[in-house]
Amino acid sequence: ERSLLGLKEISREEISSILDRAAYWESQKEKMSPVLKNRFVANMFFENSTRTRFSFEMAQKRLGAQVLNFAAAASSVEKGESIYDTVRTLESMGIDAGVIRLKPIGLLAELAEKVSVPLVNAGDGNNEHPTQALLDLYTMKQQFGELKGLRVSIIGDILHSRVARSNLWALKKFGAHVKFCAPPSMQAPELAEHAPYVSIEEALKADVVMMLRVQLERHAVGVLKSAEQYRLHYGLTEERAAQLEPGAIIMHPAPVNRNVEIDDSLVESDKSRIFTQMSNGVPIRMAVMERAMKL
Ligand code: CP
Repeated sequence: ERSLLGLKEISREEISSILDRAAYWESQKEKMSPVLKNRFVANMFFENSTRTRFSFEMAQKRLGAQVLNFAAAASSVEKGESIYDTVRTLESMGIDAGVIRLKPIGLLAELAEKVSVPLVNAGDGNNEHPTQALLDLYTMKQQFGELKGLRVSIIGDILHSRVARSNLWALKKFGAHVKFCAPPSMQAPELAEHAPYVSIEEALKADVVMMLRVQLERHAVGVLKSAEQYRLHYGLTEERAAQLEPGAIIMHPAPVNRNVEIDDSLVESDKSRIFTQMSNGVPIRMAVMERAMKL
């Protein structure tokens, strides 16, 4: 299987092989390794992105692929063309793989059934964001050596978070202990059987504290009454960060709402791995693109 639709459905061995290959790519001194020369990939983003879009493009270019960037706002989607017709259009022109970010839940699996090129999920609704979780696992392994037994607290807008879901599915395969912490309006009840919801005090007792962005764009009006109240009850404030264990690290998929879910001064603090996560996105996506496209 060359598509990567999510981490729930793939094996621990498959995930390990992607992480190992990313380590190989990270160790390469040469920036360019044209293993995907003459291969064409389309990056199809139907939702906004900075990190995912550019690190995929960086990864693809470092592997020598020909890159087509599709932005929905500048395309015939604006004339009402469907996502399916857009993907079929690019497929008919001869792309060898597609990287896709979508809002509608369930559409990606449907698309993957209907098209023959490998598809790589760059985030679909609140379902999965597999390459984000892969780079998160990679960052944790870099720090702690192994994932088994690692205590990971995921704090914030679990309900809308594809990052939380992909991390949950992957971390559990490796025997990590995942805890969630969220206000009631941001909890996903169907996930409670997989990871307990705990208080913020309990969540701070962890090796990894992963803060999530409050996804203001996905909230119904009024769900987030006050950013200041949110920070007070669920934010990683300087005071809370001072309670973290000595070896603990802070992660966040970004973009960050500074001084809402995490205090400004913590974003680039010693414990923070937020920019390391972004760097690690490139070798992870090199490994994923190679898996999708190498002949
Ligand atoms: N972490 C992440 O997915 O960021 P972007 O939305 O900027 O791609």
